[in-house]
Amino acid sequence: MTTYARITGTGGYLPEKVLTNHDLERMVDTSHDWIVERTGIHERHIAAEGETTCDLAEHAARRALEAAGRKPSEVDLIVVATTTPDRVFPSTACLVQQRLDIHGCPAFDVQAVCTGFIYALGIADKFIRTGSARCALVIGAETLSRIVDWTDRSTCVLFGDGAGAVVLEASETPGILSSHLHCDGKYESLLTVPVGVSSGLEKLRSGEATIRMKGNEVFKVAVNTLGRIVDETLAANGLQREDVDWLVPHQANIRIINATARKLDLPPERVVITVDRHGNTSAASVPLALDVAVRDGRIRRGETLLMEAFGGGFTWGSVLAVF
Ligand code: COA
Repeated sequence: MTTYARITGTGGYLPEKVLTNHDLERMVDTSHDWIVERTGIHERHIAAEGETTCDLAEHAARRALEAAGRKPSEVDLIVVATTTPDRVFPSTACLVQQRLDIHGCPAFDVQAVCTGFIYALGIADKFIRTGSARCALVIGAETLSRIVDWTDRSTCVLFGDGAGAVVLEASETPGILSSHLHCDGKYESLLTVPVGVSSGLEKLRSGEATIRMKGNEVFKVAVNTLGRIVDETLAANGLQREDVDWLVPHQANIRIINATARKLDLPPERVVITVDRHGNTSAASVPLALDVAVRDGRIRRGETLLMEAFGGGFTWGSVLAVF
């Protein structure tokens, strides 16, 4: 009997503070209309002072556990995708584990920037399929506002904070059908925070560690790469485009999402779009979008979802799942 990993609960959390495009008009030389036309973003949420990635992750995790009808004590694996961890170490997953009063199960972070949640889901799927876990908490959580240069109009309009989570459980019925994870480090300089612990630590200390992006070049590679991942995912499962009920994409830019939807020949009502409400929340964006469409009743049990993402690295990937 094949063991599948099935999503049994979803949760999302956005910090209270909302930063609208009109607020940004007062900070940099931009306009609401430009931002909406080029990105589809209307507003983003910003973590309060002292509110951390772990705080956001905990809220999303508790909501996902509640939706799955599971207690924290039943969780036997925690994977947190984040690029903005609370600390250098321990990992944010360890901090989330402590918050949830869980003891002993493996807990670790995954760093694949905007593709982080897809990587985390792909990894957790393998733990469950091989019998190493039965109930996994998979979280994407970010406080990107802490690494945004709020004087750079070409990047500051794009990003926001948030967290999303799923509970993934062993099941005899599908389930995740396949995951496809990729990276090509030759693109590292196109989208980066070019400092870290072992290089440029002084910039990290002085708050100069911010996102640098060649937006136009990122855009082109993202559209082409995500088109290819659609083909790869369908071919691996012997499926046609019409077999996919929902596209749950990384929420970076409405134009990138629309290009992928066209590739799948999906009508707009079959594409989950939340980028207008929270901008690019990196690893949090796919589970945030999934949670919205599950909770409002759009995505139903038995339907087939294609989740995909693209991010710094470049990394990219997809997960095809029956919900
Ligand atoms: N408001 C107004 N004008 C802006 C602006 C802003 N916030 N940001 C950039 N501009 C200007 C530029 O300065 C440029 O002006 P110029 O022609 O006088 O030099 C003009 O708009 C066009 O810039 P360009 O970068 O070519 O725009 P674009 O159509 O590529 O849109 C992005 C910019 C960032 C929205 C787009 O490239 C994008 O979304 N890229 C992908 C980003 C992404 O998703 N990254 C994360 C991947 S996980």
